[in-house]
Amino acid sequence: MTTASYTVRKWVKPEDLNQHGTLFGGSLLRWIDEEAAICAIYQLGNDRMVTKFLSEINFVSSSVRGDLIEMNFRVVAFGRTSVTLKCHVRNVFTDDEVLTISTIVLVGLGDNGLPVEHGFIEAAEGNERIPRRASRRL
Ligand SMILES: CC(C)(COP(=O)(O)OP(=O)(O)OC[C@H]1O[C@@H](n2cnc3c(N)ncnc32)[C@H](O)[C@@H]1OP(=O)(O)O)[C@@H](O)C(=O)NCCC(=O)NCCS
Repeated sequence: MTTASYTVRKWVKPEDLNQHGTLFGGSLLRWIDEEAAICAIYQLGNDRMVTKFLSEINFVSSSVRGDLIEMNFRVVAFGRTSVTLKCHVRNVFTDDEVLTISTIVLVGLGDNGLPVEHGFIEAAEGNERIPRRASRRL
């Protein structure tokens, strides 16, 4: 299977910190959950993705205000209705590893809210699977 890599970066701001002045784990997990779902949209072409499973989360090192955090997702496997990713987070300035999650399983749902078969076995390299719709104006 070809591997696809999806990388996004976040700047650690005051509102992302815990009471000790380091990056709050909940903030980081929120970013990861959202970005994993976006990565899965690119892979499965379904904008109704939900997180089904997260393996152990290893918070390797802390980050502080002003750090740049790089989250990298790689496609590990395609199931019938799911895609499995792994996640590595590093600190851009120090190059320290910040977090690892070896398994994130996301499932694509249909209009009925049930898992839907996606039919993919190879990773998309770009945005060719992004679902397109007519533009809307409010
Ligand atoms: C996602 C959900 C619809 C799946 O329901 P389900 O009854 O488990 O459905 P299925 O048994 O058909 O499993 C769906 C897929 O999840 C996988 N899966 C189910 N349980 C799993 C587990 N514990 N670990 C890893 N994968 C799992 C299955 O292998 C299957 O993948 P595949 O079709 O690619 O083989 C349901 O569990 C759900 O709605 N969960 C809440 C999701 C959510 O709200 N997430 C947080 C917010 S995004």
